[in-house]
Amino acid sequence: MDPINILEYEALAQARLERASWDYYQGGSEDETTLRENRAAFARIRLRPRVLVDSSVIDMKTTVMGTPVSMPILVAPTAAHGLAHPDGECATVRGVGAAHTLMVVSTVATRAATEVAKAATGPLWFQLYTHRSLEVTARLVQRAEESGYRALVLTADTPLLGRRERDLRNNFELVNDVSFANYRGEMDHPDKDRHRFDTWETVDWLRTQTKMPLLVKGILTAEDALLALDHGAHGIIVSNHGGRQLDGAIASIEALPEVVEAVAGRCEVLVDGGIRRGTDVLKALTLGA
Ligand code: LAC
Repeated sequence: MDPINILEYEALAQARLERASWDYYQGGSEDETTLRENRAAFARIRLRPRVLVDSSVIDMKTTVMGTPVSMPILVAPTAAHGLAHPDGECATVRGVGAAHTLMVVSTVATRAATEVAKAATGPLWFQLYTHRSLEVTARLVQRAEESGYRALVLTADTPLLGRRERDLRNNFELVNDVSFANYRGEMDHPDKDRHRFDTWETVDWLRTQTKMPLLVKGILTAEDALLALDHGAHGIIVSNHGGRQLDGAIASIEALPEVVEAVAGRCEVLVDGGIRRGTDVLKALTLGA
């Protein structure tokens, strides 16, 4: 079957992946209320279309944080692509390049950020999970900058991993060759105890460590949007981490308008979560993304 939409790709993936990998990619935290709401909230929004507008030429090109892209759709950071394919993020980045858009590469990728950069034909941003050692964190950031990454995306909503009960049930863990390549050589036990509890001071510190613009990802309120601006963030990503962190959190598309209003044009605002259709993208754009 040739997939004709994203949902059909999901069905193909489910048929091919190990159960535990599928559950990890697909699942959310606790009752998965927020995971479902991300989709349901898009479905509740109705468009108010205008007609007889000349649409013979369609050009979706735009820029994000100064980087030109073919369309207002980027690839959000997600972990551990190596669970789906041995090439991992290097395969993803080839697809993103073919679509002439931008990929945000995760700190917890299964291929090193430097390797993904070599496989890339288009622009990259680096998603950062800080390491408990600021030296290790600074090195991660520096390596990303040196390999040509154009922006840094700090994930702010993960002081601890959400309680993902599918993963608990499956005893899910990343094993052997599928491990976190960016930490290789940094630690005796690369996957253990690497956690750091970030605060807004982390944002201040990061700005001293890099020339890359800094985006804060995981903002869902006007209050935090204003704090992000106060702390010098260059961009905001409205996100509830795909419903994988705080279950019961507002759908990201519902949080978008208040963030856009608070920011009032002072920085770019992006959104992720529940986007499966071009019309979802249109809804996000009309709400100010
Ligand atoms: C996750 C983390 C690793 O959602 O971002 O699984």
